[in-house]
Amino acid sequence: MPPSRPGDNRNTPAKTAPAALHQQLGHVASLLMQVRAGASLPDALARVPAPLRAGCQALGFHVMRWRGSAEAVRKALAPRAPPPPVDALLTSALTLMWPLESPPYPAHTLVDEAVKAASRLAPRSKGFVNAVLRQALREGAALQEMAQHTAEGRFNHPAWWVRRLQKDWPQHAAGILKAAQQHPPMTLRANARRGGLAALGPGLDAAGMAWQPLSLPQNASPEHRPLPALAQAAALTQAVPVERIPGFSEGDWSVQDAAAQLAAPLLLKGLQASPVCRDATHRPRILDACSAPGGKTAHLLELLDCELLALDADAQRLERVAETLQRLGLGGTGAAHVELRAADARRVQDWWDGRPFDAILLDAPCSASGIVRRHPDARWLRRDSDIIALGQIQAELLDALWPLLKPGGCLLYATCSVFKAEGQEQIDAFLQRQALPASTVDAGSPGHLLPLVDNEAALADMAASGKPPACDGFFYALLHKPPPA
Ligand SMILES: C[S@@+](CC[C@H](N)C(=O)[O-])C[C@H]1O[C@@H](n2cnc3c(N)ncnc32)[C@H](O)[C@@H]1O
Repeated sequence: MPPSRPGDNRNTPAKTAPAALHQQLGHVASLLMQVRAGASLPDALARVPAPLRAGCQALGFHVMRWRGSAEAVRKALAPRAPPPPVDALLTSALTLMWPLESPPYPAHTLVDEAVKAASRLAPRSKGFVNAVLRQALREGAALQEMAQHTAEGRFNHPAWWVRRLQKDWPQHAAGILKAAQQHPPMTLRANARRGGLAALGPGLDAAGMAWQPLSLPQNASPEHRPLPALAQAAALTQAVPVERIPGFSEGDWSVQDAAAQLAAPLLLKGLQASPVCRDATHRPRILDACSAPGGKTAHLLELLDCELLALDADAQRLERVAETLQRLGLGGTGAAHVELRAADARRVQDWWDGRPFDAILLDAPCSASGIVRRHPDARWLRRDSDIIALGQIQAELLDALWPLLKPGGCLLYATCSVFKAEGQEQIDAFLQRQALPASTVDAGSPGHLLPLVDNEAALADMAASGKPPACDGFFYALLHKPPPA
């Protein structure tokens, strides 16, 4: 087994006893078939028997990360596709030859266990699976070469995704694609209403959990815009189940990526600059238009006394906002007043009481192309046409919500995407539609944040330190509505 890297113990194939691997491989082949048929990995995992789920999740994440290379090799070595279950098993086993420099299992274990899995799944395919895997192992370094011939094989992402990144980020596409293969750090946010990092950090120390305060890398914004400090962010050296974090169930901590932790401070910054907040006694009225599962809603409420309306079109997901706020002790008593409402934010007539908002957070539905290291199945589930459909919804949300903002108020548009169509191009088109000047966008707006591994030196440094890129890909535009003349 390779040494485990920081923060990867949830997503790395578990150090299972070899005897269990063949059993897991059978389930993982089924996961792959379900994702190929359009199911999300979490939905497919929910159907795995509970005792095997954690191990299968780790393997399933690995399969999604290396699926492109493994499929290319399967096609090269066995051009006639075997029946779908055998193909899924073989492909899953082939992914376990990557990363080539440190595969998760010794070669002989992998072959033996895959053959055992085949004898349970489709006994007549045993010899075939054995032969293909042994040939793949014999070919050694040539495996990499076999995988190079298609974009999927080379980059482990669909070809349209690679093309889009190369068009949007000619300098950075390779780095973004490499970053997507990394295991993300486990990043926490200390509850500012419980004293924040200064008060809660020692609890991690006392529990023997190594951690460090997290700031965003200076090259995260390709435009080199200065990024706000992350006052409450901590990266754990080793990921742990949340129940082990001291005070988690009492609401001291949340799990939230560093890039996502910028939303609340940015909206606050917008409000502080706004003439609507000149009166210090004024309690701002805020709309969180796409709030579920509530990570940014909670952060806002930790930082600000306000009146907040949290909407989401998905009533079930909205329940998770209520649970999050309950756990964090932000349920709407005291300084904050919170209302949760299931509604399509675009259908203003269904939910708006006519009172304008001082600030709006629009964390819009998007491709999630910035968070693929955390959700490695997303890249295989999306289609290029989704980007156009999602772009349409993002534009409709912007157009519907802008009139609800007080003159002088601010709107923070956010997506966890690295595609410009969901970021800068969306905002440029909005400004044009609404005939707004470029100065509507705050000069300190971060724009695109990239999970960068964008040059060989950074890559080597990352490999040496074992540190993954510190933030997910995100886009933020802070917009100020012109004040009344
Ligand atoms: C990126 S997620 C929001 C994440 C959330 N802000 C957080 O930090 O936890 C986008 C959310 O938008 C919701 N959504 C999609 N279309 C919507 C619409 N038309 N109106 C309101 N919510 C919508 C989805 O259900 C999803 O929960």
